[in-house]
Amino acid sequence: MGLIRILSEKVASQIAAGEVVERPASVVRELMDNSIDAGATRILIKIENGGRNLIRVADNGAGMDRDDLLLCAERHATSKINELSDLFSVRTLGFRGEAVPSIAAISRMVITSRTPDQLAGFRLKLQGGKIKEIEETGAPVGTTVEVKDLFFNTPARKKFLRSAPTETDHIVDTLSRIALPFTALSFRLDDRDKTLLSLPSVDSDVSRLSALFGHEVAGLMIKMEREIQGLRLSGYLSPPEWDRARGDHLFVYVNRRSVRERLLTHAVIEGYGSRLMKGRYPYAVIFIEIDPALVDVNVHPTKQEVRFHQNRLVHEAVKTVVEETLRQKAAALFQVPAPASDSMGEKFGRIGEPIGGYTVYPADTTIAREPEPQVPLMIKEIPVVLGQLKETYILCETKEGLLLVDQHAAHERRVFEKLKKSYDSATLECQPFLIPPTVEFSPSESRTILKKMGELSQLGITLEHFGGGTFVVRSVPNILVDVQWESFLREVLPLLEEQGAVKGDQMVERLLALMACHGAIRAGQRLSKEEMISLVEQLDEVEVPTNCPHGRPVFKRVSFYEIEKMFRRVL
Ligand SMILES: Nc1ncnc2c1ncn2[C@@H]1O[C@H](COP(=O)(O)OP(=O)(O)OP(=O)(O)O)[C@@H](O)[C@H]1O
Ligand SMILES: [Mg+2]
Repeated sequence: MGLIRILSEKVASQIAAGEVVERPASVVRELMDNSIDAGATRILIKIENGGRNLIRVADNGAGMDRDDLLLCAERHATSKINELSDLFSVRTLGFRGEAVPSIAAISRMVITSRTPDQLAGFRLKLQGGKIKEIEETGAPVGTTVEVKDLFFNTPARKKFLRSAPTETDHIVDTLSRIALPFTALSFRLDDRDKTLLSLPSVDSDVSRLSALFGHEVAGLMIKMEREIQGLRLSGYLSPPEWDRARGDHLFVYVNRRSVRERLLTHAVIEGYGSRLMKGRYPYAVIFIEIDPALVDVNVHPTKQEVRFHQNRLVHEAVKTVVEETLRQKAAALFQVPAPASDSMGEKFGRIGEPIGGYTVYPADTTIAREPEPQVPLMIKEIPVVLGQLKETYILCETKEGLLLVDQHAAHERRVFEKLKKSYDSATLECQPFLIPPTVEFSPSESRTILKKMGELSQLGITLEHFGGGTFVVRSVPNILVDVQWESFLREVLPLLEEQGAVKGDQMVERLLALMACHGAIRAGQRLSKEEMISLVEQLDEVEVPTNCPHGRPVFKRVSFYEIEKMFRRVL
């Protein structure tokens, strides 16, 4: 008896604030959201000491009159929804009437605001969520919210703050994320008097992409756009070779709200499929436009999670569009990206030298300085096989320079696609052994094999149990006739054991990739010129010539420009 007490208003509001405001960047996010919802076209943010001492967000939006100003810091005071059902048509970023009171509860806040039809504005001062003062003041149309001394009355939370530079990084990241879909709006972030980020209003997404990823990646990203199953999907994908060890550059937006949603991240990775090495992530931005009635945004206090009514459908749609976009791009495979320092070459010209001793390029040679990135070169007509390096790489000359092809990766990709085609069309050709080899397994391995023999036979691998741990290999796909059976099956085993967790199609792909790996030409294998030519030519016929089924690159280029730079023929 007597153990349960009602928390004081102050404690309750601090606890609620804790859910919304995790760190200074959360304040920036909420205030920016409000400015965007207020129809602002220009948003200026100023911070001091990583946002601990000051966060100020000034906008030129609709502003608030005196009454609204007095209300906006009340819990559940919002102009954005009226009833629960409104939640299912909500197009604004905010809807709960929680952000301003939450931030106010744990800071000293000053809100200055003026609507267009008023001559003067009003200034409201709050401390720990309590109204201290409201006064009339001269102010531009719009709203400026100043948040000082964040967490001043919750010392325990203050302790969790990281160093000022780290908190500043989070703020930059938050701003870049939120700003991305709002290209018509301009944003600026100042740290005291230093401008950290300036995003003018633009027609294209590229400058916003640069703020997130840097110029180089942003310039290479592949545009994606498609309507599918009532969803409008658009965005940007990095070429697979620009992969990362972490998924922190994968941004997803639902109706322009930045969300962190595993379902969607997963769909993007699946769309990349075997183009990415296992455990690697692309840079990607995905915008999903969906009827608000089909998505629930009221899932998490920070509004960064959403639930779709039809999860699978959205997942499939994202995966499909990513996959198709990358496949179309692969068609333009051998185009050479213009070297970043191209203009330098142009400016300083080539170093002159006496004509005679060297191969002479035509007078106006454009070999290195002006590659034509738009023209996809068909491999067939271009590469001239020069030879083999370290019995591993095939060296070719193309119009643009040197092409190095990893013979194993290239062949593996080719074999994999062939296997997959024949598997899909049920025309996998198998060959029975005249003298069937036997393989030995441990008791636990044998149990797995016995369980999965049926599935293996669908892939053309027919085994027969001979008793104990001994199995006889009756027949295999043609491609695998010469492989080391024992080691191949040993690698298949762990895959089969995992099978519970992996879907049928994916498992088949993994098994086929493993077969391709074993069946393909190895590194360290000497190839005849004809074999090399045929291998390089075959690359022209595969769907994804850039990567082997495990995601390793198939080829790399060194442009004439780079070569000439090495030899200081150009500066
Ligand atoms: N910058 C602003 N310009 C104009 N009105 C604002 C601004 N910031 C807040 N408001 C008003 O104050 C109200 C309360 O803001 P608050 O952020 O607390 O709630 P919300 O945005 O409605 O919902 P949420 O808690 O999901 O953010 C808003 O509904 C809006 O009417
Ligand atoms: Mg809000």
